[in-house]
Amino acid sequence: TPVAAVIPAAGRGVRLGPGAPKALRALNGTPMLIHAVRALAASRRVSLVIVVAPSDGTEEVKSLLDAHALPERTDFLVVPGGDTRQESVKRGLDALPPEYGVVLVHDAARPLVPVDTVDAVIEAVGAGAPAVVPALPLADTVKEVEPAAEAGAPEPVVATPERARLRAVQTPQGFDRTTLVRAHETVTDDVTDDASMVEQLGLPVVTVPGHEEAFKVTRPLDLVLAEAVLARRRL
Ligand code: CTP
Ligand code: MG
Repeated sequence: TPVAAVIPAAGRGVRLGPGAPKALRALNGTPMLIHAVRALAASRRVSLVIVVAPSDGTEEVKSLLDAHALPERTDFLVVPGGDTRQESVKRGLDALPPEYGVVLVHDAARPLVPVDTVDAVIEAVGAGAPAVVPALPLADTVKEVEPAAEAGAPEPVVATPERARLRAVQTPQGFDRTTLVRAHETVTDDVTDDASMVEQLGLPVVTVPGHEEAFKVTRPLDLVLAEAVLARRRL
């Protein structure tokens, strides 16, 4: 079954600081979004990429896609995003043509995901999992706290989940199309990843190994790391 990728790229990037929308910021001279599109289109299995652009930036994103070399076997669509990531993904799904039975959702903010990770996710969906997430063990111990009202105030620790059982999840997350569409129609809570909506439907979600280079560009230091990874790849 054909595989499509939806790339939510409509966020402002508040945590990265002032400037252009995060997905349009340059990494080694090329917009982050273009790196992300190339990373997904690098998979021979992905035949359509739907970019969910900042709502006032669809024309700019279309010109960027035209201006950069991208594989000819891949089709591209650009749709305007919404106020939340969830809404942006939904708009991407609404634009998905009927023939695509498998859909990947990939953050534009993870521009350096290796193609092997993309293919591992697709393979696990093909093997029958309705939802697949790339995941890595944590380096830091994680604590649950009672969040303080003001930023910076001390927060009481509530619990310490066993680190060995925790995973940090990345994208692309892969889905049976019908399952993801149903999740978006059913779940109304705010979520920070797509697979958690499938969990709320009571359906199984499985992990495959993630990759360090699939990290999310969130804060300024992440830009430094991303450019260092690109420099290392050129060696
Ligand atoms: N995203 C989106 N539409 C939104 C919000 C986020 O398409 N309304 C996308 C972002 O462009 C990004 C991905 O979702 O590719 C992951 O979100 P995140 O890393 O949080 O990016 P931003 O929301 O842009 O950053 P911040 O939360 O710091 O503002
Ligand atoms: Mg955000």
